[in-house]
Amino acid sequence: MKQLIAGAAMVLLFLSCTNDSSETVEYQTIYRIPVVVHVVHNGESVGSGANISSAQIKSQIDVLNEDFRKMTGTNGFNQNSDGADTLIEFFLATEGPNGETLTEPGIDRIDGGRAEWPKGFLRNPIETTLKPFTIWDPEKYFNIWTVNFGGFASRDLLGYAQFPNMSGLSGLNVDNGSTDTDGIVIGYKYFGSSQKGNFPNLIAPFDLGRTTTHEVGHWLGLRHIWGDGDCQYDDYCLDTPLAAEPSYGCPTNKMTCEELEMVENYMDYTDDGCMNIFTNDQTERMHTVLETSPRRKELVVFGQEPIY
Ligand code: ARG
Ligand code: ZN
Repeated sequence: MKQLIAGAAMVLLFLSCTNDSSETVEYQTIYRIPVVVHVVHNGESVGSGANISSAQIKSQIDVLNEDFRKMTGTNGFNQNSDGADTLIEFFLATEGPNGETLTEPGIDRIDGGRAEWPKGFLRNPIETTLKPFTIWDPEKYFNIWTVNFGGFASRDLLGYAQFPNMSGLSGLNVDNGSTDTDGIVIGYKYFGSSQKGNFPNLIAPFDLGRTTTHEVGHWLGLRHIWGDGDCQYDDYCLDTPLAAEPSYGCPTNKMTCEELEMVENYMDYTDDGCMNIFTNDQTERMHTVLETSPRRKELVVFGQEPIY
């Protein structure tokens, strides 16, 4: 009897998954993430200097979706057998923290009262002041700050991220930061894509939006592809080859650990135009974080999409 019922349930399930032409339609879970971009400027008018235009911001969200969904016909597509559609998407939040409709969806413009934001000092103002005072509830929004980095310590900085907390993953199972600083910070000269509009403040070869793709990878628990050490150190993903160091530019046939390096991985340090891949194992790590890590799991909006 038990078996019969199970059998009937299966038939029902099957029927409910068929469309008019009787082809089986399967669904996959999409992880959708609401975003707020805090545009930190120094009194410039909208569209000039650090007060970047909404078009530039939208171009960055588009790049994220192209890269994380491995979209055909975009820079984010690849034909590598280890290359994944991560099923993770990003959208600009429509409502503000008090439920108000935002005039510019997902955009919060802030006069930070200074021209440059130094990073790397013991008490740096981004972490101690800017983020805690401007963050929107990180259980409801993925917070991104765009700033003008300055000062000696940040000379080469494009962006940085806060790792997720306690997701139980190798290389991550630690308390990685507090609630009031959660998110990523990106230099405004690297936020957006020069292929999607006329954004003269973007600086090549980091002008295709991949700094944000890389930092979102960290924010979702990914380590650097070279494991931040020599060939003994790994990124805890078996399908990303070992490497002994970061790569720059876009080298071909690079091999530091007796296997061909995946310099096109978003978690390397290569140029924006060189990058086009997250792997299946990296995707699994990010899904684990989105399902188990504090704040990330409250934040994500699950959706369903037919598999074509
Ligand atoms: N945190 C890294 C840096 O500041 C980001 C590197 C991103 N790479 C890129 N091609 N956009 O150097
Ligand atoms: Zn990094």
